[in-house]
Amino acid sequence: MAEHTSSGGPTLEEGGETRRDFLYLATGAMAAAGTVIAIWPFIDFMNPSRDVLALSTADVDLSPIEVGQAITVTWRGKPVFVRRRTAVEIESAANVNLADLPDPQPDSARVKKPEWLIQIGICTHLGCIPLGQRPGDPRGDYGGWFCPCHGSHYDTSGRIRKGPAPRNLDLPPYQFVDDGRIRIG
Ligand code: FES
Repeated sequence: MAEHTSSGGPTLEEGGETRRDFLYLATGAMAAAGTVIAIWPFIDFMNPSRDVLALSTADVDLSPIEVGQAITVTWRGKPVFVRRRTAVEIESAANVNLADLPDPQPDSARVKKPEWLIQIGICTHLGCIPLGQRPGDPRGDYGGWFCPCHGSHYDTSGRIRKGPAPRNLDLPPYQFVDDGRIRIG
């Protein structure tokens, strides 16, 4: 398995997650989140019915996100994690023995394009928001996300690997509108 980084092979850090990338990420995340969040006051003002709310979508511009960076956007009141994965992260996610997973699911079933992982950022244990999106966040033992509430570790595919969470991070419905944009919902 390739999820750990202590052997002689390439590490997740070497996959492009430099300090500079994280600083850039912070700026990109704020800009992108602001774009999406700005939609909400309008929707709240309209006081949409449940049916309308169920149909609501969020478009996300992927173009500012560099390899190794991530942003968090809001869709229907939920945080959605969008990460542009490095080659090492993709390889780490793919080279896993499914029999070792608490909630077996191949990485290919969790992405439409390997570079882009889009998932709902809510821990499947008791609903905390896992860490791993912001610069300097702990990412747990498997390089993905870490939920400090009770110690759940998610890998670079958002699959639960260790801790009390019963299943992988959920995936929102989405589609690629074009190469640089997705529509969630
Ligand atoms: S809510 Fe995430 S580990 Fe408990």
